[in-house]
Amino acid sequence: FDIYSTMHSPDPERLPVILEDWEKLAREKLADGPYYYIAGGAGGEHTMRENLKAFTDVKIVPRMLRDVDKRDLSINLFGDIFPSPVLHAPIGVQSIIHKDGEIGSALACAELGVPYIASSASTVPMEKIAEAMGDAPRWFQLYWSRDPDITASFLKRAEASGYSAIVVTLDTPMMAWREYDLKNVYLPFLAGEGVGNYFTDPAFQAKLEKNPQEDPQAAIMHWTKVFGNTSLSWKDIAFLREHTNLPIILKGILHPDDAKLAMEQGVDGIIVSNHGGRQVDGAIGALDALPEIVDVVEGNIPVLMDSGIRRGSDIIKAIALGAEGVLIGRPLMYGLAVAGQRGVKEVLQHMLADLDITMGLAGQSSVSRLDNSILRKSE
Ligand code: FNR
Repeated sequence: FDIYSTMHSPDPERLPVILEDWEKLAREKLADGPYYYIAGGAGGEHTMRENLKAFTDVKIVPRMLRDVDKRDLSINLFGDIFPSPVLHAPIGVQSIIHKDGEIGSALACAELGVPYIASSASTVPMEKIAEAMGDAPRWFQLYWSRDPDITASFLKRAEASGYSAIVVTLDTPMMAWREYDLKNVYLPFLAGEGVGNYFTDPAFQAKLEKNPQEDPQAAIMHWTKVFGNTSLSWKDIAFLREHTNLPIILKGILHPDDAKLAMEQGVDGIIVSNHGGRQVDGAIGALDALPEIVDVVEGNIPVLMDSGIRRGSDIIKAIALGAEGVLIGRPLMYGLAVAGQRGVKEVLQHMLADLDITMGLAGQSSVSRLDNSILRKSE
């Protein structure tokens, strides 16, 4: 009742409660280029829609009379206890959304103890985000560059600035066919957004004739050559292991055979994800891919998931199907677009309150004890 009793009568200044209203307001605030960069998906956006459908196809069957007075949303990942199973997904170029950018999102997470995963493609360098966050939990997401010196340098910098795990995104060795961005001729990197980690990197700078401040165009051209790496294969995981002692988590796994290969390479975790439907259009919905992967992993390493989580009940479904945590993407960016740091915090708080209430109403008192006995799939 706390939530209801602390609410005031409608105030025009009040931020939205209804999740879809955040997106509507973000649409009003942003120009076509940035709005579609966030909201859009690859190709005909079939996978983006499939992500949401996968959640509605799974239903919760609530249990009654199970003493849900005390509810524990906490999880343990790689020896760290987090207050809830929610993490901030890695998202680049937040400068196109709001002036608070990555620092605003990271601070909103720090206020709530939600781990922030800093993207390689952040506009602000990882050291600045780390400095703003103090001791708050954070992981670093690696876009694996074609230049091994940059990859090694990013890993070293992340370790030195207090990131406690490395998320390696495998599904983006190049940008996908994104029709809105092509139509709008909008790729923020080419305007110098999202290159903060590269322009400040000694290995990146070493390959340029002039430093990026003196000749930003040449630096951007170099970035287009080194950003991704389409030549990688499974044997290359050893390179990452040689260059960091932090837990390595592979993001973008959808096939159970890849989950097996990941375990053979000795990685520490997996994130089942289709990048929010932004890479392979026609790919399986992320929640649909989760159970088979959980089966082959057999509890040996943590499996997390993202793509399509919108409400507390979605989190329950993902966890009950075997995920140990979930990452949230677009809803937080709509929060950032509407109200900067405060918006990100508010969207997160809503999601966590919704999760807590729905857990109780479904007769569940512990996130770590959720299992698929409370789920049914529609045929
Ligand atoms: C992303 N995502 C992403 N992933 C990543 O590993 N590195 C990145 O830099 C980005 N950048 C990025 C920008 C924007 C605007 C979006 C919307 C997404 C993917 C992200 O981490 C996550 O996988 C999806 O956003 C999850 O899907 P939902 O929650 O948006 O449906």
